[in-house]
Amino acid sequence: MIRRILVTSALPYANGSIHLGHLVETIQTDIWVRFHKAQGHECRYFCADDTHGTPIMIRARNEGIAPELLVARMHEEHLADFRDFHIGFDNYYTTHSAENRHFAEEIYLNLLQGGHIAVETVHQAYCDHDAMFLPDRFIRGTCPKCGAADQYGDSCEHCSATYSPLDLKDSYCALCREHPVTRSSEHFFFQLSHFETFLKDWTRSGALQSEMANKLEEWYASGLKNWDISRDGPYFGFEIPGQSNKYFYVWLDAPIGYMASTLHYCNQTGISFDEYWRPGSQAEVYHFIGKDILYFHTLFWPAMLKGGGFRTPTSVFVHGFLTVNGQKMSKSRGTFINARTYLDHLDPEYLRYYYACKLTARVEDLDLNLDDFVHRVNADIVGKVVNLASRTAGFIQKSFAGQLCEVYPEDGGLYASFVQAGNEIAQHYEEREFAKAMRAIMALADQANRFIEENAPWNLAKQGDLTKLHQVCSVALNLFRVLMTYLAPVLPQLAEKTRHLLNLNDLHWASCQQPLNGTTIQPFSHLMARVDAKRIEAMLSASRPLEENSTPQPAAPAPVPAPSSAESASATIQLDQFAQVDLRVARIRQAELVEGADKLLKLTLDVGSLGTRTVFAGIRAAYQPEALVGRLTVVVANLAARKMKFGLSQGMVLAASHPDATDKTALFLLSPDAGAEPGMRIQ
Ligand code: 2FM
Ligand code: ZN
Repeated sequence: MIRRILVTSALPYANGSIHLGHLVETIQTDIWVRFHKAQGHECRYFCADDTHGTPIMIRARNEGIAPELLVARMHEEHLADFRDFHIGFDNYYTTHSAENRHFAEEIYLNLLQGGHIAVETVHQAYCDHDAMFLPDRFIRGTCPKCGAADQYGDSCEHCSATYSPLDLKDSYCALCREHPVTRSSEHFFFQLSHFETFLKDWTRSGALQSEMANKLEEWYASGLKNWDISRDGPYFGFEIPGQSNKYFYVWLDAPIGYMASTLHYCNQTGISFDEYWRPGSQAEVYHFIGKDILYFHTLFWPAMLKGGGFRTPTSVFVHGFLTVNGQKMSKSRGTFINARTYLDHLDPEYLRYYYACKLTARVEDLDLNLDDFVHRVNADIVGKVVNLASRTAGFIQKSFAGQLCEVYPEDGGLYASFVQAGNEIAQHYEEREFAKAMRAIMALADQANRFIEENAPWNLAKQGDLTKLHQVCSVALNLFRVLMTYLAPVLPQLAEKTRHLLNLNDLHWASCQQPLNGTTIQPFSHLMARVDAKRIEAMLSASRPLEENSTPQPAAPAPVPAPSSAESASATIQLDQFAQVDLRVARIRQAELVEGADKLLKLTLDVGSLGTRTVFAGIRAAYQPEALVGRLTVVVANLAARKMKFGLSQGMVLAASHPDATDKTALFLLSPDAGAEPGMRIQ
């Protein structure tokens, strides 16, 4: 039976570039879609840019251009990034479109008519200078709990407290730094609680992952709250019909973008939109999302669809976050890698394969371990799969005019078992257990390689046993074809090269049931290069922000490190030279994170009679700020102050590390023995 399947991945914000984190989801979705297409289903993949909201409006204003122009530019950039990662959208659209406005209005008006919209008065920070209400992220001030300065309007990065922006002390507008006032205005609220029974049924009937179903139960238990869907102008978005200067909140029209993208596609191709989205639709509808936007997709979205007159999704598939080398992506470590930076250095199919090896149907984080990445791709794809063709195609070309055996040779049941294994592999793909699928495919590749090793075609060629050589190489290329059929959803480009090499019309799943007999192949040309580890280094280096590369490293090892056998001490200095360094005991009064600098902590030091100093120290990886408060350390007190991007650094604290250390957490701040006091001189 041919299934009609509509698949989406979350709409990326138009105010940022695509990075390797986004690609976990788009690659996961794309593999799933390609698999279903290869199975002969009518599967379509829709996505779009998420274009509305204050950050985009402000960014466009700062660039001196209309937001429409900014979102058009970002659309081009995103499209090119996805295209170059071989993401095969059937349509990649935009939420800033007539179709999206149409559906946003339709859903809203239906909700209004159904009595699901309430009006409530909201008190909010307002900047008189900028003449706008300030979203939480545009207000900064002192944390009401711990007193840390320069915190966001909704949460403190220092003590993790969350609060209302109105409780922030000494608050100021992040745009103009003026103190905001409190203003009230009327907002529209979607009454989610009206849909509680419906949502509970939907949760329980759908094939939701168990982790999700549990999360939803928690949310039901704590009660469904009304959702604020309006924003006052100025705002980049759609005006609410019948109101003046009120706009739909970006998160209202974002998921509606799934429908807008569908309609845009349907209008161009003559396919029926209603058969996907209207009640009674027989199609399957799936959303791939990250765990951070679960609430929107499993509560607001189905309820909006239900109340708005549309069908609800068949299921929502949730994945975890990306870590790189076991840690959160970090700009200063160079592991916050944009799609384009990756593409400048590496083949997109390496990443597609690596992600596939790590993806499961569970909501767990995925680690991109760069050493493992190099090893895995080289060992599996180049070493086990591509090798099958590169070791045998040349013989077929040279000795048999490119023709495979007329009759499929005896292969000990290998081909039949490869075809048989396709059922299990297909099942893994269907269930989004890509890691299992890759393991099963590589187990087959091992068998194929054993066959080649045992039959050693290079020896057969030397011995002149042409009959056997023809048979062995024909079997190997046939097995290669089956493997590439199974890998095609993951490696579409390599699959295309394989299709060309073997002169095939397609690599559809079912077409490899029968082996190729007597057909000719094209001359072999290079299929895929090994990953060069040096390219990884170059990519990391290109991902490190320039400012941080050039900032002096404020935490230095002790001035004269003890020489070890493997290294020599630095140049000798005279005692009077050393005496020029004013080293003092200091007490750390405050230690804070520095926004935009993953390596740094901002330390406020009490240096006794020398007063208070602010020092930016590169010790973030080794210390939690709160663990340092109250502790004694040693500071170079007469170092010329340096102006850094984040403020003035008035000195340097001393820390020890191994000269070749790559682990930035292996750093040790120096401290005097107990009893020392701030300001004491070290001599
Ligand atoms: O979290 C995000 O990046 C949002 N732009 C996702 C939107 S998904 C959908 F609802 F549009
Ligand atoms: Zn302002």
